[in-house]
Amino acid sequence: MHSETLIKEKLPKHIAIIMDGNGRWAKNHSLKRIMGHKKGMDAVREVVKTCRELGIKVLTLYAFSAENWRRPQSEIKALMSLLKLYIRSEISQLHKNNIKVNAIGDLQKLPKDVLKLIKDGFDKTKNNRGMVLNVALSYSGRDEILHAVTQIAGKVKANELTLSGIDEKIFSQHLYTAGLPDPDLLIRTSGELRVSNFLLWQIAYTEIYVTDALWPDFKKENLHKALLEYQQRKRRFGFTDEQINSG
Ligand code: FPP
Repeated sequence: MHSETLIKEKLPKHIAIIMDGNGRWAKNHSLKRIMGHKKGMDAVREVVKTCRELGIKVLTLYAFSAENWRRPQSEIKALMSLLKLYIRSEISQLHKNNIKVNAIGDLQKLPKDVLKLIKDGFDKTKNNRGMVLNVALSYSGRDEILHAVTQIAGKVKANELTLSGIDEKIFSQHLYTAGLPDPDLLIRTSGELRVSNFLLWQIAYTEIYVTDALWPDFKKENLHKALLEYQQRKRRFGFTDEQINSG
């Protein structure tokens, strides 16, 4: 573990991660892409465990984007199989660790068997309060916003909501992440400086940390380093330094 210590009170409540670079990792090791995803699953296990140990309240992982449906069928199939494997092998451990597992995204697009496994498996964990693990699947930030807009418009039409009653709080309550705090820290692996349609509304004030490490190489130490850097950041939320320091 890193020699510098983390300040427990200054840890993020919500960490979101864009797990990128599985394919490149596989290529670097002369392996098939799916082996990169498999190794990526080990990294998921380690990061979830570490976050739980640290007392992080919410962890959101970008596992499969709405755009990922454009990948070759063989890779999509392999990713879905891995997801099933992950749920089957991990759910009881996650449950034991008091973790509530939740899927966010356009889940209806998932194959029926995956959807059923998610519903049954995740349902078991719904009363857990130790940590929320959001798995973003078939997820698009723009779709999520459109979905919220449609829901709100429907409520206005049905006179359940007035136009002047629509504010940021109401809007947030119609997102897949309703009831959860916005991410304090967004981590992206493999060096790409993009947001890639992830949590577009929620990351308005999120600190962004990009590392060159490829996702399968992202270990406990890498997370520790990201958290140390996060703790050095000054979050101003639009205020001046003076206001922050005096308040
Ligand atoms: C990005 O790497 C990664 C993905 C599209 C899938 C992420 C999936 C996992 C980490 C494994 C399973 C996850 C769970 C939650 C069980 P990439 O393929 O885009 O890599 P590249 O940019 O190097 O090609």
